[in-house]
Amino acid sequence: MFNFHKDHKSLVIFSFLGFLILSLGIAVFPAYQSQNDTAPLPQVEPMNQAEIRGLAIFIEEGCVACHTQQVRSIEMDKTWGSRPSIPSDYYYSKQRMGTWRQSPSILGSERTGPDLTNIGMRQPSEQWHLLHLYNPRIVVSESIMPSYPWMFEEKANPDEGEKVLPVPAEYRKKGREIVPTQDALNLVAYLQSLKQAPLNNLPPEFIPSTNKKLDETTASTEGQGKSLLPDGKNLYMTHCSACHQAEGIGLPGAFPSLVRSPIVNDEDPELLIRIILQGYDARANFAQMPGFASQLSDEEIAAIANHERSSWGNNAPEVSTEDITNIREFVIKEQAL
Ligand code: HEC
Ligand code: HEC
Repeated sequence: MFNFHKDHKSLVIFSFLGFLILSLGIAVFPAYQSQNDTAPLPQVEPMNQAEIRGLAIFIEEGCVACHTQQVRSIEMDKTWGSRPSIPSDYYYSKQRMGTWRQSPSILGSERTGPDLTNIGMRQPSEQWHLLHLYNPRIVVSESIMPSYPWMFEEKANPDEGEKVLPVPAEYRKKGREIVPTQDALNLVAYLQSLKQAPLNNLPPEFIPSTNKKLDETTASTEGQGKSLLPDGKNLYMTHCSACHQAEGIGLPGAFPSLVRSPIVNDEDPELLIRIILQGYDARANFAQMPGFASQLSDEEIAAIANHERSSWGNNAPEVSTEDITNIREFVIKEQAL
């Protein structure tokens, strides 16, 4: 049917189709999906115009050649942020720059200079950043970072209201003052905006209490026929909803949805209970979940698990306090090994 040796048209069409299918499958669809699978953390403000222009200058000047913006969950990265980066952190900076321009890749792979994920927290001063850009040696004497003097103007008589940088005499020509351009100010606005949002504003109830016993006020009056369990919904709201949200829908790119989750609905509750006891950090596209073994009693965990297994359209068999006790014992033995 296809004679690639003699019919050049079928060769061209065939390779073009192959190229198209591979491009869609490997690049376009996954990118589209990850774009829709991520939402910003609630505390994060969208970037303003100055910050967006600053990001463009950051890319233009090739700052990414020496600076990363990714905190990995390994020991050596602990100095760069309060936690490892998650997809939600990149929500705004990963949006397309325009119809024809892709979202920029600012993750970086070289750390000749420090990671900048949290630089807005570490160094909030605008003046410091401006001086550092004009000539890094002014503020860090041993710095090997290049200077960016083209983002500044030398003026004999700066206008009133212009920002004159306090550049020491040995770094400028006699009689000349150094004034930042709008580019420099935008770039610094961008750097100041780089702050790692806390994963959640944990409510005060989160503070671990060591000897929590089943207390009567949280005990539900329903279901007294079977075992008397505390109010699972209440416990879920205080311990889980800050991340997984009241309706269990989670936050894409940070916290998974529990609605129709195969883990929550699994007939065998072992993994679900292990996750509540030990926490979970299995997938790169979500943040880390802390364990609750020291904060929640077996009754409380059973109540929460049952609330999750019977709410929001989930439907799985009930778990008992004994299930939790058994799995907790097993986990403790495992950890002792
Ligand atoms: C050739 C590599 C290189 C390039 C390119 C580079 N830097 Fe740097 N940068 C460094 C080094 C090394 C340091 C650490 C020494 C210092 O603070 O000056 C640094 C430090 C910094 C710091 C301070 C970080 C901290 O934790 O104190 C900021 C902010 C910064 N750079 C921003 C930029 C920006 C913005 C650009 C692009 C306009 C840029 N850098 C380009 C190497 C580089
Ligand atoms: C600090 C935020 C946080 C809190 C609080 C939290 N979780 Fe999670 N939870 C996560 C994250 C993040 C994951 C995904 C971890 C991964 O996959 O690496 C997760 C995963 C899960 C999963 C697996 C769901 C699935 O289908 O992937 C379940 C079930 C779960 N959590 C239940 C709970 C319960 C029950 C509580 C309350 C006792 C709770 N979580 C509290 C952050 C949290």
